[in-house]
Amino acid sequence: MKKTIVLYKRLSDDLLGRLREQAEVIFVDTAQADGLARLRDALPHAHGLLGASLRLDSSLLDLAPQLEAVASVSVGVDNYDIADLTRRGIVLTNTPDVLTETTADTGFALILATARRVVELASWVRAGHWQGNLGPAHFGTDVHGKTLGIVGMGRIGEALVKRAAAGFGMRVVYHSRQPKPAVEALYGAACRSLDGLLEESDFVCLTVPLSAATEGLIGARELGLMKPEAILINISRGRVVDETALIEALREERIRGAGLDVFVKEPLAVDSPLLQLDNVVATPHIGSATHETRQAMARCAVDNLLCALADQRPQNLVNPQVWAMR
Ligand code: DGY
Repeated sequence: MKKTIVLYKRLSDDLLGRLREQAEVIFVDTAQADGLARLRDALPHAHGLLGASLRLDSSLLDLAPQLEAVASVSVGVDNYDIADLTRRGIVLTNTPDVLTETTADTGFALILATARRVVELASWVRAGHWQGNLGPAHFGTDVHGKTLGIVGMGRIGEALVKRAAAGFGMRVVYHSRQPKPAVEALYGAACRSLDGLLEESDFVCLTVPLSAATEGLIGARELGLMKPEAILINISRGRVVDETALIEALREERIRGAGLDVFVKEPLAVDSPLLQLDNVVATPHIGSATHETRQAMARCAVDNLLCALADQRPQNLVNPQVWAMR
């Protein structure tokens, strides 16, 4: 008998076809008003789950006694209680690698947009304010030749270093649990304490995953260590930054600006004070959001899930202990 997969993310026809060859597929559109209720109805049948952007808490897992594997279409796994999944013997997989370059591109888009005031000045042109020559009030700040501080030196951090050092002639400092000798040798990056990095960098880019150790990592004290002309870029998770402290620092121009792709609460409320500030570029969590990369992530998740359900070790196991227990 075929196993059942509950899908809570829309897939392209070819990927859906691959799942249907191997399993019964129930699609639930969680964006619909009754989406969560429909998911609850489907969970008792599920051997596999595939989707993203849903907090899969224990009350949902309790409804899925046959569940063997969850394939997240994301690299971040902060929506899952990994210890709980592991205790229940449920495999969790994610989609690293395929989104690395695209997410680093997003980081650089935010660096350039904030430093050169691209969004603010493009809106100014549209509003008909461009009536003559620009003066210093409209100038931005250089990116090339500056110091980029990268907090977290995983795959995305490394892709940022490559762009910064090779493309923009930037000095790179980084903060990471483990020193990365290869990155230091290839790009001349230097490892720093978090405080040292904050004091030294013109751009501070956050790439760490959200965990108990990184939640609130950048608060009022850390923002206070940044140079007044420095810019904060966040492409990790909103909760890594104390958003209230950030709003204060930006309002009082204690730092130059912020490029933010992630927020404590998403979607960002339209009345968020962040949207009142000209020195903020806010994007709607587009880190990996290109056609090519989202398709590659979905393909990776499908491969992971089909492997796990066929008792083959999937490539991107988040909780390998479960596999060892089999
Ligand atoms: C990820 O894959 O974790 C990205 O943030 C998209 O959600």
